[in-house]
This record gives sequence, C-alpha cells and structure tokens, in this order.
Amino acid sequence: MHAEIITLFPDMVRAVLDTSILSRAREAGQFTCGVTDLREFGLGNYRRVDDVPYGGGPGMVFRPEPVYAAVEAVEARLDGPVRRLLPSPQGRVLDHALAAELAREARPLVILCGHYEGMDERIMQGLAFEEVSLGDFVLTGGELPALAMLDAAVRLIPGVLGDDRSHQQDCFSEAAAGGLKYPQYTRPVVFRGMTVPEVLRSGHHAEIERWRAEQARQVTRTKRPDLAARKSGGNGA
Ligand SMILES: C[S@@+](CC[C@H](N)C(=O)[O-])C[C@H]1O[C@@H](n2cnc3c(N)ncnc32)[C@H](O)[C@@H]1O
Repeated sequence: MHAEIITLFPDMVRAVLDTSILSRAREAGQFTCGVTDLREFGLGNYRRVDDVPYGGGPGMVFRPEPVYAAVEAVEARLDGPVRRLLPSPQGRVLDHALAAELAREARPLVILCGHYEGMDERIMQGLAFEEVSLGDFVLTGGELPALAMLDAAVRLIPGVLGDDRSHQQDCFSEAAAGGLKYPQYTRPVVFRGMTVPEVLRSGHHAEIERWRAEQARQVTRTKRPDLAARKSGGNGA
C-alpha cells in the first residue's frame, strides 16, 4: 500500500508515521508513504496558500493554484492511476469497510489535508477528490483524519500486526459478525475482588468460543444497539 500526504504540517504527519505499527510497517516495506509540504507550492515570497473568501465571511480559503501544483507534482512521480482522498466533514464516514477497502487498494492514495475555513470549490471540481469524514464534528485540519484512515487500513494488511488473528477478531470484523468484541482478561485471576470468568480458565475451547460469541452479542446489544439492529435486519429505532 502506498500513500502520499499533502499537508501544511509535515512534521505532525511524520511524527505519527514514525511511531509504532505505522513505522514498523514502513520499515518492513508493507506500507510506504510520501509527505509533501504544501507550502513549497505556495505563491510569492511568502509562499501563500490561502486567501480571503469571495463574498466575505470569516477565515481563509485554500487557493487552487498551490493545491493543483502540489497534486500534479506528487502524481507525476507516481506510475499510473491514483485514488484521491480528501478528509472532509462532508464525506463518507470512515468505517471498517472503507479501511479494508483502502488496505486492498492497488492504486497509490493521494491525500490532501485541508486547513483553515475551507477550500476553493474549484479544487473539488477539477480534482474530484473522494471525501472521507471522521464523523459529525469539525477538526482544525485534515492531518488527523488522514492518519486515522491510514492507521485503520495499514493494520489490516496481512503481516503488519504480529498475529493476523488480532484484527480478524477485532470489533466490526467478520469473526465478530460486524459487531463488537467479547471482554478480555489477563493475569491475575483475582484483582480487587473481581475474578476472571471460570470458563476462560477451563481449557475447553468450544465452551470458550460459545462464551465469547454470547458475550460479544450482549456487548453489541448494550453498547451499540444500532449495530445489533442492523445485523438482525431491524431499523435500530
Ligand atoms: C476547520 S476544517 C473546515 C471546516 C469547514 N469550514 C466546514 O464547515 O465544513 C479544516 C479541515 O479539517 C478537516 N476536517 C475537519 N473536520 C473533519 C472531519 N470530521 N472529518 C474529516 N476531516 C475533517 C478537513 O480537511 C477540513 O478541510
């Protein structure tokens, strides 16, 4: 999987790419990622990338020229078609299905991180980014959503996690039937009066599986009734 992130804050992006699983996946060549500083494509001595909105109003808006120049420069280095992604509160909400789709994506991902009040509409008009949202709230920039997308996708690439069974049994996985995961315990057996369920210490694999499946159903019903209803074909109301 290859990604290119275009951002005004390359240090912020690199700090995450250089940490934990994303860093290890890059070292192992399972994931590669370029980071481009949008400022390098800014206009004039001050390398401006933004300007005031036509029609008035608060905040600044990305100008189209630096963005087009950055996208064109990045894509000129890549071979063949790309998938352009734009973190945006107006997009499709990131979920497990989209993360899995990105993990399988053969095309390089070109991700443009927005900032300020917004972007000139001609950026979307001419570059046709696919908008992806983290949810119904507004962040200051697209860096965190871009990294969230990559983190969620990269951990699904076979071999990235120490044991692929980890993500195969996570919340929303096929094993969890798209629901939430069962409760987990480790040592000690008793902690402040709270005891690890007997069945998990029994060594009976079939019983452990049954217990986990039932617990997962209960947890999903309690914490995410909307998911439980979707699975059983209800409307979640
Ligand atoms: C301050 S926001 C702009 C919000 C814009 N004025 C609006 O009302 O939709 C700046 C950038 O942060 C990113 N962003 C903010 N909220 C987001 C969300 N929920 N999901 C994905 N990206 C988001 C987008 O890249 C956006 O261009």
